[in-house]
Amino acid sequence: MRFLGDVLQLLFGFTLPEQAAENVHLVDDLYNFVMLLSIVGFFGLMGVMTYFIIRYHRSQNDKSAYIPHNALAETLWTVIPTIIFLGIAFWGLWAYFEKERIPENAMEIGVVGKQWQWEFTYKKGNLEANVSDVLYVPVNTPVVLNMTSTDVLHSFFVPSFRIKRDTVPGMRTRVTFTATKKGDFKVYCTEFCGTAHSKMRATVRVVSEERFNRWLTREIKEANISDPVELGFRAFSRNCSTCHSAGTDTIIGPGLEGLWEKKREFENADSVVADAEYIRESILNPNAKVVKGFPAKMNSFSGLLTEKEIDNLIEYIKTLK
Ligand code: CUA
Repeated sequence: MRFLGDVLQLLFGFTLPEQAAENVHLVDDLYNFVMLLSIVGFFGLMGVMTYFIIRYHRSQNDKSAYIPHNALAETLWTVIPTIIFLGIAFWGLWAYFEKERIPENAMEIGVVGKQWQWEFTYKKGNLEANVSDVLYVPVNTPVVLNMTSTDVLHSFFVPSFRIKRDTVPGMRTRVTFTATKKGDFKVYCTEFCGTAHSKMRATVRVVSEERFNRWLTREIKEANISDPVELGFRAFSRNCSTCHSAGTDTIIGPGLEGLWEKKREFENADSVVADAEYIRESILNPNAKVVKGFPAKMNSFSGLLTEKEIDNLIEYIKTLK
């Protein structure tokens, strides 16, 4: 059936998106067939009509013949289209069920649509990891997406895989695919879901099984760190390290090495010993106590860090000796 697509490409420079998954041809064959049938039908109809206009023009035959009906013609123009259209209907139904069949050993990945991003959940044993924006999958491996939405209707569409399925709040929907080509493929949301609907995109990244397993092991490990010092270090790197070094150097604010339980002198308050209370206050209300010799430049992190993150930061700062 490849040639139908080639004919369309030749005639109109028209192509469907790249085929990057199994069973993609089921959609394309049907689509190309209907497209070509429509083109043939259109030109056929226009051609016959033009011929009749000329052949039976009033200048040729002034008086029309009396033809009440023609049983053969009527039977043909009823039966042939009926067969064609029923054929297309059953072909479509068959292709649909073929494409919907979920292989038994399919790898399950959770998908959540939310305003306005896609979130993917991977499981390994009883550990899991959430990632957004990039859906990693191994090549030539059947995948089934278990999907839902946290807010409104979204629709998960990967043109190169010919899959599209709505995500519905309070409901599970499933869609399956087996990627056959490595590379990045675009994901769109195709259900109008609010102001940033058009920006609700993601990428399916198809990689070798080996690379996928490496990636998944790392993500699962990252997502399940429970050591408060390690988590504190991460929070520090994300939030604090532009202005504070973990050593004694001054970047903008004071370096944090040796801070824990050290006596601090301030521009605008009595000195205190640096304990958990002081560190918490310095994060949430930095200008209450401004360290001597430093400008009052820090903004409050109130609302930007969770209580847990603040606790982890304190645990991390304790280790900077
Ligand atoms: Cu989500 Cu449109």
